[in-house]
Amino acid sequence: MDSLSRAIVAVGALLFQIVPLSWGASQEILRPRVPRDQIEVARAVTNPLPASDEMIAKGKALFEGKAFCKACHGADGKGLG
Ligand code: HEC
Repeated sequence: MDSLSRAIVAVGALLFQIVPLSWGASQEILRPRVPRDQIEVARAVTNPLPASDEMIAKGKALFEGKAFCKACHGADGKGLG
């Protein structure tokens, strides 16, 4: 087998392992976290903190800093990060 064929087989074998793994991971992420019978309770939860400038600045610092939210939710918090 020449080196090109060997490289193609190696990449194919790698994809064969990675694709099912990433599919499994995305299915797990998309799984609903709130039990169906508690969805209304979860929707009724309100933020107990006042939307003051100070509180928003603290939240922004956490979102972009050590709370790591920005890595997944993006800079604008829309979930496209
Ligand atoms: C590892 C990636 C990741 C990180 C880090 C992360 N999130 Fe999320 N977040 C998700 C995913 C994926 C969902 C959707 C989960 C679901 O629907 O079950 C989600 C859902 C949410 C929701 C619900 C959104 C909605 O429309 O119902 C909020 C609010 C939220 N995240 C806030 C945060 C905050 C605040 C932080 C930082 C403390 C954070 N997330 C960190 C991945 C992440």
